[in-house]
Amino acid sequence: MIQLTYLSTPTRPISNDDLMNILEKARLNNASLGISGMLLYTGEGFVQILEGEENAVDNLVKLIKNDPRHKDFRIIERKKIDTRDYAEWTMGFKRVEKDDLRNVPGLNKFFETDLAGSVSEDKLDLINKLTNHFRKEAKKKNVHDELSLEEDDAFIRFLHTGIRLGVKVLALLMMLTVLWCVGDVVVVIYHELLIQPIETLDKSEILHVFGSFMIVLIAVEIFINITLYIRNDVIPVKMVVATALMAVARKIIVFDFHDVSAMHVIGTALLVMGLGGCYWLLEREFKVHSD
Ligand SMILES: Cc1cc2nc3c(=O)[nH]c(=O)nc-3n(C[C@H](O)[C@H](O)[C@H](O)COP(=O)(O)O)c2cc1C
Repeated sequence: MIQLTYLSTPTRPISNDDLMNILEKARLNNASLGISGMLLYTGEGFVQILEGEENAVDNLVKLIKNDPRHKDFRIIERKKIDTRDYAEWTMGFKRVEKDDLRNVPGLNKFFETDLAGSVSEDKLDLINKLTNHFRKEAKKKNVHDELSLEEDDAFIRFLHTGIRLGVKVLALLMMLTVLWCVGDVVVVIYHELLIQPIETLDKSEILHVFGSFMIVLIAVEIFINITLYIRNDVIPVKMVVATALMAVARKIIVFDFHDVSAMHVIGTALLVMGLGGCYWLLEREFKVHSD
């Protein structure tokens, strides 16, 4: 893998919409190309770091270089890497403001430095400081960056490794559970639908079949939660809420309104509204962050 850093200058004033367009396209493309990185926009220039397989990065760089929205494209560093610095981001983004750097040692004079022209050791050092600063800031903000294996304390690292292993065992068990649930669907279909004449089918038997399908879907959602956790070290809160919504939806689908009390229905409705509201807020928060 390689990590490549370049500098460029916008050809015209860049609006929020321009930035949104660049980021949307970048995140979509980069995810499919296995490329991660970070884009910084200072108002006068872009700094972008791209990391991934050598061919993928080089091809993308050729494309980006010819983008008419910027000029003075200068690669300032291209190095081989074993692990990614920006693994969590298909394209992290930060609009760098003077206030962000006012009190940062080594970077408080960033906006007074002229980055145009040829690349020198000093410029490279400054840019590396800048990108590292925002990478660390973003990591700090990511309160879910838990179970880190980059902990300084060896004992904590050991505990984190153990818990990660536990999560992997959970994923394996969950895979078996999903297969078990699929088997259950087959058995339920056989008992409820196939072995009795079609005219004797009643509503509760059909609902029973629906319920067994929903259980498989919930099991798959939980499995995805666990695997996302393994890959990204973050609890996918939105996904957890979505799973809870699906579990409640399953209950609602199989409601037999002759058997459930009014309070039960009202309680379920409140739960759905609460979870729905929570999902909406998370979605909004996610949008604000990715903006
Ligand atoms: C500063 C800057 C950074 C960009 N970064 C990326 C990037 O990381 N990934 C990407 O696919 N496109 C990026 N683009 C956009 C590409 O130059 C190009 O418009 C886009 O990849 C075209 O995608 P398409 O062929 O799918 O339309 C960037 C553009 C600019 C101006």
